[in-house]
Amino acid sequence: MQRHEVVVVGAGLAGQRAALAAVQAGRDVAIVSKLHPLRSHSGAAQGGINAAVGAEDSVDTHIFDTVKGSDYLGDQDAIEFFCREAGPIVVEMEHFGTIFSRSDDGSLARRPFGGAHFPRTIYAADRTGLALLQALWERLGSENLTLYDEWDLTRLVVRDGRVHGLVAFDRTNGEFQEISAKAVVLATGPAGRVYGRTTNAHSCTGDGIAAAYESGAALKDMEFVQFHPTALLESSILITEGARGEGGLLKNASGERFMVRYAPHVQELASRDVVSRAIVTEIKEGRGFSGPYGGYVHLELMHLGKERIESRLTEICDFARRFAGIDPVTEPIPVYPAQHYMMGGIGTNVRAETNVRGLYAAGEAACVSIHGANRLGGNSLLETLVFGREAGIAAAAYASTAPTPEMHESDLDEATAPLRAWSSRADGEDPSTLRTELQRTMEEYVGIFRDEAGLMEGLRRVRELRRRFEKVRVVDRSQVYNLNLTDALETGHLLELAEVIVVGAFARTESRGAHSRTDYPKRDDARWMRHTIARKGPSGPVLDYAPVGFTKYEPTERVY
Ligand code: FUM
Repeated sequence: MQRHEVVVVGAGLAGQRAALAAVQAGRDVAIVSKLHPLRSHSGAAQGGINAAVGAEDSVDTHIFDTVKGSDYLGDQDAIEFFCREAGPIVVEMEHFGTIFSRSDDGSLARRPFGGAHFPRTIYAADRTGLALLQALWERLGSENLTLYDEWDLTRLVVRDGRVHGLVAFDRTNGEFQEISAKAVVLATGPAGRVYGRTTNAHSCTGDGIAAAYESGAALKDMEFVQFHPTALLESSILITEGARGEGGLLKNASGERFMVRYAPHVQELASRDVVSRAIVTEIKEGRGFSGPYGGYVHLELMHLGKERIESRLTEICDFARRFAGIDPVTEPIPVYPAQHYMMGGIGTNVRAETNVRGLYAAGEAACVSIHGANRLGGNSLLETLVFGREAGIAAAAYASTAPTPEMHESDLDEATAPLRAWSSRADGEDPSTLRTELQRTMEEYVGIFRDEAGLMEGLRRVRELRRRFEKVRVVDRSQVYNLNLTDALETGHLLELAEVIVVGAFARTESRGAHSRTDYPKRDDARWMRHTIARKGPSGPVLDYAPVGFTKYEPTERVY
């Protein structure tokens, strides 16, 4: 058995920042990650990170934009803390060596992003996540910590409401490993692979969220799922909001700049929920393009000129050329909305504490909540760093006085029993078939527009898939990189979390931010200005509700 004081699960930006803070506090720290840290999904974040550092901008405006963007479901006290930390933490990353893009005068370059009053998004061309990840990984390299990479979290060990460690599966040799820990930080990212059309990496299967839920942690606001307006047709690769920030235009099949009708003040730079709904409406009402991969609209960059496109949007040029055979310098890019981010996650406070003692969560796996019903672009990278650091500080402080963890001999057996059963079956369900059916179900019934009948059918199908999963079978018996086994493990997590998403969406009979009910088209503050809390019950999620934190921003109608 391995023993550490603080174990961070996940090695993206939130996990790395948590590990750095915990190691700086003098604790013995290990990172468990199913990927090499530099392959984490944080590296896929393109457009930038928000911080009000310009003379014309202010932290107060960043706070207001975030509150408004959240459709007033974000906790205002948490948002205030978050936005105040933005400038210092971005400067820290610059000092760690992040190669940010620069303006002519040498200051940090900033571009406009959706839902923001000022150009506030600091960037490194369109590879901002990757630039941050590389700088933080280099910084972490000078610290003394242990890395268990290519290890999958199998289960948390929680007894009497306190975390004692975890069980993980080493992909490289098929061995199950126990790690005793006084504190565990979950920074495992989202469960975007619940959907088929997603900008999320294949690794985004909600492993930490599912493990926390299984162990008694409360999930918050899981029904709020963000769809990014511009994913590349067919592959769903992200085409950054930065493209619209640089001046890119959305056009329908008649060549009309349709966003003028949906968001007359800011058009393409409305918040993501607004732009995604507009695109889907254009397509549904017959004004989009159609083809073998479904409906789409055009994102035009040609008017920006070759030099600007290729220098500021390098990565998406490459993606469009390689994956769609389109040259954005001379042709429009075909785009549609795809799942991109989960506003919900493991419920935490601003110190990243969950309701389980010794268990912390940060980044997209967590819900503080600062994004409420809709996240603004550029606030996600910021969230990883601000709350990753808070999680590391809090976990280290807790571990410095926490009692010695008690791992029992039975922990390993209990955690691995289901996986051994999957591998010993002579007959059963194929995990990848179940995953594909789940993704189709979520696309069809729990997408951008929702209604009661669709959600009921979605829930029926998800529950049927969960029943079938009880008979899941792993055919591959090999020990080394058994992807059939990891597929089953991940599919179980996706199915469990899909049920929480649908149950929460069904219960919330209003439209707010990214949760758009055609049968309840209005926001209903009297009944629904509250967070959804989901706990695992004997026959599915049990819902409860919690108040939203207010400071001074009165909810008003959200217009862009
Ligand atoms: O469009 C983008 O570059 C995505 C950024 C974000 O999700 O924050």
